[in-house]
Amino acid sequence: MKRYNIAVIEGDGIGREVIPEGIRVLEATGRCYDISFSWQHFDWSCQTFLKTGRMMPQDGLDQLRSFDAIYLGAIGYPGVPDHISLWGLLIPIRRAFQQYVNLRPVRLLEGIDPPIKNFGAGDIDLCIVRENNEGEYSEAGGRLHRNTEFDLAIQESVFTRRGCDRIMRYAFELAQKRRNHVTSATKSNGIVFTMPFWDERFAAIAKDYPQVKTNQYHIDILSAHFVRHPDWFDVVVASNLFGDILSDLGAAVVGSMGLAPAANLNPTREFPSMFEPVHGSAPDIAGKGIANPVAQIWSGAMMLEHLGEIDAAKAVEGALASVLARRDPRTPDIGGKAGTRDLGEAIAAEVLATHSGMMAAKRCDLV
Ligand code: NAD
Ligand code: IPM
Ligand code: MN
Repeated sequence: MKRYNIAVIEGDGIGREVIPEGIRVLEATGRCYDISFSWQHFDWSCQTFLKTGRMMPQDGLDQLRSFDAIYLGAIGYPGVPDHISLWGLLIPIRRAFQQYVNLRPVRLLEGIDPPIKNFGAGDIDLCIVRENNEGEYSEAGGRLHRNTEFDLAIQESVFTRRGCDRIMRYAFELAQKRRNHVTSATKSNGIVFTMPFWDERFAAIAKDYPQVKTNQYHIDILSAHFVRHPDWFDVVVASNLFGDILSDLGAAVVGSMGLAPAANLNPTREFPSMFEPVHGSAPDIAGKGIANPVAQIWSGAMMLEHLGEIDAAKAVEGALASVLARRDPRTPDIGGKAGTRDLGEAIAAEVLATHSGMMAAKRCDLV
């Protein structure tokens, strides 16, 4: 039996509702695939900030360092400014643990009616590879002359050769396992230093992968193509901010924020990686028990894959796809009336049923 130590940060809002469903499904999967999990919960959130003045304790990162992975819900809630909550917890984890890849699959599943016409299940299957440690998200800059008429803010972007090269290489390696196509998101017509540099590095790295087809679009038209022609894309590599925006657009194109999983990966495995949905804490629906748990559950499948539990990861993905294909139960964001827990329980039951079906088939073969 394999045993994994997982740090769990439910965080805020619907993070606290979808994480229990993720754990429910992973526990069920563990029983089928001989995996056990030790879940250690860290109650770090905006509530914690309001009580203690910190999103996590001073040694919070040290507390997380030795885990096999981190399973996170969402951070941020009205009452604490977003830049305080996110820069006090989520972003420090991504950076300290060199989780420089933010991998965000965008897939149209059976049973989902997308908001765009002419696309069915299987027609949209792309992966956003978002740079996750630098770029437009930087701490370089400042404010001057606060609260005077000369008040100003400066924010510098940081694009390093190492940072660009490693995310681009990751994208090319991933494309080689998929459909051999990488698209780069740029804006080198308007952003005059960093984006031409990004393009230069993309061209240089592409040379090492001559079998992979490449193209690039400025982010404005790329966004339009995401809506009109999402089937054009395989792997899309993007800077931190562009990748962030494309992620929500991608989620919308395939039906809901509640269907978009993500992995913050430290590919060298020196540090734990972190698995969390693309969506946030959804204050507008928090507390109602109606959030779609699929993104959280699917992020759990990505965690299993990262841990090397490939069959178990496939089982979770297969189960959530089957339940969605049956169209019942489904949460309101995808046109149903069911609750978060109903969908979580249905997916967990599907994992168990599929596995016992497989075992029964195997036994029959033996007879
Ligand atoms: P959001 O993703 O929380 O919500 C956007 C919209 O999508 C809302 O209408 C919400 O109800 C809906 N939605 C999101 N997830 C859903 C789900 N699972 N099921 C059904 N509907 C869902 O984005 P926001 O409103 O911009 O952000 C709210 C807070 O979350 C902010 O504090 C923001 O900074 C934070 N945030 C955190 C993360 C993270 O922790 N990784 C990501 C994004 C936003
Ligand atoms: C995401 C979120 C975060 C980001 C925010 C909350 C800082 O939007 O994970 O997509 O921009 O990285
Ligand atoms: Mn985002």
